[in-house]
Amino acid sequence: MKNLTKGLLALVFLLGLLGMAYAIHETIPSETQIPLPGADATKLYEYVTRHKPYSAWQLWPGKGRMYKGTEPHGALLTTYVDNTALGSIKKKRGMADGSIIVKENYSADKKLAALTVMYKLKGYNPAAADWFWAKYDDAGKVLVSGKAEGCINCHQKKKDNEYIFTGEVKK
Ligand code: HEC
Repeated sequence: MKNLTKGLLALVFLLGLLGMAYAIHETIPSETQIPLPGADATKLYEYVTRHKPYSAWQLWPGKGRMYKGTEPHGALLTTYVDNTALGSIKKKRGMADGSIIVKENYSADKKLAALTVMYKLKGYNPAAADWFWAKYDDAGKVLVSGKAEGCINCHQKKKDNEYIFTGEVKK
């Protein structure tokens, strides 16, 4: 009899735990519900490193890890794209709102030097294809952000390709 009571108590306890686990699961929003950040470099960094870690994204189609880069970005580059950017790159009809490109910039001895990011924010900067630009050091400190002239002045060589060098995004 005693054992039966113990057993019942254990069962009630377990059911309680299950209920709690379910409640917690329901209150934590799933990844897909985390909204994209606005024009804010700190929030953008948080988004691409914590909420939707870019390290789990796809690489730029056809590019491997640590491919050879040019000035000013670094000797070796690894470029990641979020799903929106990936879809746009494949369709070649321009980059859709919400596209994010994150590029790791490495020195020749494979040390991460900086992250450079292009984030498409509809209406943010129509004069330059609506990109929000950001550069971070290897610890995530914001070095450049926004309608960054330095970035735009060079990338505008590719104005007809939405300011993108790495591959054709428009037919
Ligand atoms: C002097 C020219 C120049 C400047 C300045 C420059 N870039 Fe780039 N960027 C390039 C080139 C060239 C590539 C292609 C990769 C390579 O060969 O290094 C590139 C690639 C990129 C990419 C990958 C997508 C693409 O366009 O191909 C991102 C993201 C990027 N740059 C962000 C930035 C940001 C952010 C800044 C400003 C902080 C910046 N760039 C400044 C020349 C430049």
